[in-house]
Amino acid sequence: MVLLSKPTTEQYSCIRKTPTFPTSIVPVVDLSKPGDAKTLILKACEDYGFFKVINHAVPMEAISNLESQAAEFFSLPLTQKEKAGTPNPFGYGNKNIGRNGDLGWVEYLLLTNNHDYNFIRLSSVFGPKAEQFRNVLSDYMCGVRKMACVILELMAEGLNIEEKNVFSKMMMDKESDSVFRLNHYPPYPDNFNNNGKGMIGFGEHTDPQIISLLRSNNSSGLQICLRDRSWVSVPPDQNSFFVNVGDALQVLTNGRFRSVRHRVLANGLKSRLSMIYFCGPPLSERIAPLPSLLLNGNESLYNDFTWFEYKSSAYATRLADNRLSRFERISTTSASS
Ligand code: OGA
Ligand code: NI
Repeated sequence: MVLLSKPTTEQYSCIRKTPTFPTSIVPVVDLSKPGDAKTLILKACEDYGFFKVINHAVPMEAISNLESQAAEFFSLPLTQKEKAGTPNPFGYGNKNIGRNGDLGWVEYLLLTNNHDYNFIRLSSVFGPKAEQFRNVLSDYMCGVRKMACVILELMAEGLNIEEKNVFSKMMMDKESDSVFRLNHYPPYPDNFNNNGKGMIGFGEHTDPQIISLLRSNNSSGLQICLRDRSWVSVPPDQNSFFVNVGDALQVLTNGRFRSVRHRVLANGLKSRLSMIYFCGPPLSERIAPLPSLLLNGNESLYNDFTWFEYKSSAYATRLADNRLSRFERISTTSASS
């Protein structure tokens, strides 16, 4: 079934082939070895803002059950999927990413961490079968949130922060503004020969939240941007999770951790299905560098803001924009009085 109409080169930005991240370079963190994990996470967040997690303890059954439900959703006719509502902010989206004209070869379902709200959206699509989707989603989110807690606490330990739950408590707060996203990138049509260049599935961006936890099927496409501005492809691994540092964590660590720029290239042959849990703070949370990271004369690189203020400002931006630039202090040396 053709899920999306044929793209034109004018509509979609195209890019050249990119080298693959040599598998040996992708930082791999084994969560069953917390001692090593703490050190590896710290280095990966400083160097790349990105790493892969193995022995993550999220039950494989929860993952494959959700993957099947998601595949079922995306295989429905367009009119049926649209019953989930427009993604403002939660619902089904197709090609349009955000509100400001970004396009990608992707369709997606945006959900919240509130299962009752999701259930209402899913019921419009699935009727009584929505119950099954809800249960599967809830099992998956429960496993992923536990993993997120472990990772966030190891981050705090790695940074020598006394309050071990300083990051995890933001995500665990009942008011946490976490988001869950299912992305489907259908293979693009045979006759769309782009002179051997790739086609953008999801344009370059950084994730806004604290961290995002991504699991995809075994289809390539994800690329990350290194410090030297070069792009590398990340080999897919359906048994692992990939973790991105987001903008909020970059600020909380006063720039020590790097919010990783990434993108997805659509694949001409195979569809990609990814599920991403974005760990967000409550809307009222003040996002500012942690005091213990401002010792020894280090000044904050950012003006204070709340998560709500960041989000309000981010809504007006394009995907590729640096959404933190509005909050950056121009010069750290001249900023002191
Ligand atoms: C995102 C994202 C990657 C993917 O949704 O923010 O980066 O594989 N997705 O879908
Ligand atoms: Ni992203």
